[in-house]
Amino acid sequence: MEAGRVIRSGGLVAFPTETVYGLGGNALDARASEKIYAAKGRPSDNPLIVHIADLEELPDLVAEIPPMAETLMNQYWPGPLTLIFKKSLKVPPETTGGLDTVAVRMPDHEAAAMLIRASGVPIAAPSANTSGRPSPTRAKHVQEDLSGRVDIILDGGEVGIGLESTIIDVTGSDPVILRPGYISLDMVKELFEGVRMDKACTEPLKEGERPKAPGMKYRHYAPKAGLTIVEGGRAEVSFYINNRIKEESSGGNKVGVLCTEETAGCYPGGICKCMGRRADEETVAHNLFAALREFDEEEVSQIYSESFYGGQLGQAIMNRLMKAAGYHLIQV
Ligand code: TXA
Ligand code: MG
Repeated sequence: MEAGRVIRSGGLVAFPTETVYGLGGNALDARASEKIYAAKGRPSDNPLIVHIADLEELPDLVAEIPPMAETLMNQYWPGPLTLIFKKSLKVPPETTGGLDTVAVRMPDHEAAAMLIRASGVPIAAPSANTSGRPSPTRAKHVQEDLSGRVDIILDGGEVGIGLESTIIDVTGSDPVILRPGYISLDMVKELFEGVRMDKACTEPLKEGERPKAPGMKYRHYAPKAGLTIVEGGRAEVSFYINNRIKEESSGGNKVGVLCTEETAGCYPGGICKCMGRRADEETVAHNLFAALREFDEEEVSQIYSESFYGGQLGQAIMNRLMKAAGYHLIQV
């Protein structure tokens, strides 16, 4: 496979996974990791996730495999789960942003597994977007952001999940969720009572505070227009947003609204992106990042979003939305 050769010789390949598209390079090659940071315009203290296709690759990358990790891997690998281990000496500090831990995940995607096996090395891959932009859920999003900065883009169509993997730190006595995703707090609780959610998942950091997942300190997933989340009863939310639409569009601005099938007809003056039925969180998650990118293309000047607390995926959806909004939430 040509793409495998490109990785092995130090090049970059963008590839689909079940979560979002990744921008891959040889995880054991410091120069490949530096290339990834440069292509994304990503700060080099924000570590990369190392992707493997087979369990045999893991012992080489980590200093130890805690029993807690074994349980999680048995249950959820391959799948949308990244685990943080103490790293081995084989993994260069460039890949881990200078940390002595390493993030590892085994994606549940045929093309990703084929690429990893063909290259013969573990693949470091952040989401394949320009730093700060919404993660790519289609090959065309990768093209928009990274065209000319990546050797090959493997087109696997639309990804399945649409939000990045759940990250769990397994280096302590209890698992700690550093980034919520498809695998929810409640799902991990069934295995480990003591699991908790790092507070950087739900709150903005205070000045000078350092999150455990360095990526959580950067503004993320951000559309070009300002985004405000409006929370409250359905009638109050649409009343508030419609007033904003009226006011802002009288000055000639276009106003975007992230809404659901239930409310798609409630904002006649706005540019609405319907993300699916409210109860169907998988569809909402699947459509979120693409909707944020579409607003960029349509050059709206402000976006309002309904809020999405709910079942299994609600926490992950709200985490991404809150970050995209810079934690700007209004209760009505
Ligand atoms: O679903 C995913 O995880 C996608 C696909 C491509 O696999 N990848 C992804 O990578 O989302 P990225 O680079 O966009 O996000 C990686 C996150 C960052 O927040 C980073 O700080 C955190 O993982 N991370 C990586 N290594 C870490 C470590 N050793 N300790 C704590 N956090 C780490
Ligand atoms: Mg990312």
